[in-house]
Amino acid sequence: MVLITLLFDVRIVFAAIASVIAAYASWLVVQDVRVKKKYRLPPQVPGPPLIGNIFQMPKTDHGPYLQKLGRQYGEMFTLKFGSTYWVVLNSRRVAHELLEKRAAIYSSRQNLPMAHRIVSGEKRILLMPYGDAWRRQRKMMHKVLNSSQQGIYKPFQDLESKALMYQLLVQPETWYLWLGRFSNSVIMSVIFGRRTHPGDVNLSAVYSAQEEFVPYMMPGASIIDAFPILEKASFLKSFQPWRRKGDDLYRRTKKAFLKLIEELESRINAGTQRPCFMTELIASNDEEKFTREEIAFIAGTLIEAGTDTTRTSMLSLIAGTAMYPEWVERARKELDAVCGPNAERLPTFEDMNKLPMIKAAVKESVRWRPTNAQTGIPHALTEDDEFEGYRFPAGTVVTWNNWGISLDSNEYDEAERFSPDRFLDEDLDKVAKGHLGFGAGRRLCVGYNVAASNLLIVIARLVYCFDIEQDPSEPVKVDKPLPFSAEVEPYKVFIKPRSDAHRRLIMEECQTAAKIDEQ
Ligand code: HEM
Repeated sequence: MVLITLLFDVRIVFAAIASVIAAYASWLVVQDVRVKKKYRLPPQVPGPPLIGNIFQMPKTDHGPYLQKLGRQYGEMFTLKFGSTYWVVLNSRRVAHELLEKRAAIYSSRQNLPMAHRIVSGEKRILLMPYGDAWRRQRKMMHKVLNSSQQGIYKPFQDLESKALMYQLLVQPETWYLWLGRFSNSVIMSVIFGRRTHPGDVNLSAVYSAQEEFVPYMMPGASIIDAFPILEKASFLKSFQPWRRKGDDLYRRTKKAFLKLIEELESRINAGTQRPCFMTELIASNDEEKFTREEIAFIAGTLIEAGTDTTRTSMLSLIAGTAMYPEWVERARKELDAVCGPNAERLPTFEDMNKLPMIKAAVKESVRWRPTNAQTGIPHALTEDDEFEGYRFPAGTVVTWNNWGISLDSNEYDEAERFSPDRFLDEDLDKVAKGHLGFGAGRRLCVGYNVAASNLLIVIARLVYCFDIEQDPSEPVKVDKPLPFSAEVEPYKVFIKPRSDAHRRLIMEECQTAAKIDEQ
């Protein structure tokens, strides 16, 4: 009797699922017909009906894939993931026209029920739709990360870049791990006012949660992103394997972020906390009244957004310099004129106005091979819009073909070359201008000032003190984005001090900075 009832229940559940799927499939067909009738989208990459291009998107190297499509389809093209249309912008011109000039309606984010609502509890700014919750966080982040706050960050950047020089000198064979350590520690210092060790347990928990989270932002990563109706099917919750996984990841992420807040509070109570982003946030929280969990996600998201992006931009710099060293000669002329030709002293932030090539190299490092946001970080349109004969529906996801545009010879002379000279123009001091590495419009990277000064001090010191060379038997290859993992040697290079004098300078000025426990 029990068995019969059970079988009957199972049949009802399957029938319910089948009806939901059938109803949804019919709705998709109606939607498609409606969109085709009322709107006009750029050329669409063909794909099977209903699901569209979901299964055509490769699991990795999305940048080169969209680059290939861009060459085929021109300045704009359309992809379809389930019920969502994506318009891919394939030139700086159209990115500027839409994401910047029409930012008032092109500044939302795509509806990602899995990544945003389930895995992030709607608290990661990166995924928030354009609206009040986003505006509150963004305003506060901007207040604390803008260039007038540099006095708080520069001492950390100075210290960590010295530690990096010393580590590259004494253990050059693990150079890529030192870049990872620098990025972790400098961002933790800027946000939490404390340095980090490799293998820091509390931070590892943050990074491993991030590693699991990032793939959920990719198109087609979760079935409910392509078919958001499935999220609403709450009566089937226990049959949704994605929900159990997502809820568990959210719980672990929250725990990892809150742990960092607990540590911060202990340091504040012990009177050992240094001024940083979090002390500024806490001091100004009377006005905004962010909850403890919101504060934890603000800080955690900044750590996530700032760390790997900094590391991979430095990987680009080193690969580009090893492959195209011509610019180094000229940069060194500037550096030697300021710091002396015989390693008299290290370059500092105060020297930067006399080092235009270094400033240009910061922009080139962000343009040249954009690994982290290779297909942009998609924006979403909040109202119907018309542009150059096309008509886009509200809700269209609009992204820029970051990898493709960066490597397009119509956009940049000899785009394949690492050549900072291209940025020696009147916009040299506008770090986010002339490339799309920091995004565009109102969602432009909120941490770009911090990012640029991290790179500035590292590049100046690295180029002044070290020669960077390829291994002739294993040339650097950059036809694909660099590996994401910080533990993997992405390519082979030799990093050697320029001279004995430079070696001595690093020993004298940087050794103490590398003693992390004592700072
Ligand atoms: C070289 C390093 C960096 C690169 C290349 C980079 C790149 C980007 C890009 C492409 C976006 C998306 C922009 C858009 O949607 O138009 C973004 C957003 C963001 N970045 Fe960065 N970033 C870097 C460093 C940082 C740092 C150091 C921080 C913080 C300390 C940070 C915090 C953020 C945040 C919070 C967002 C989300 C903004 C929003 O959605 O409103 N980033 N970044």
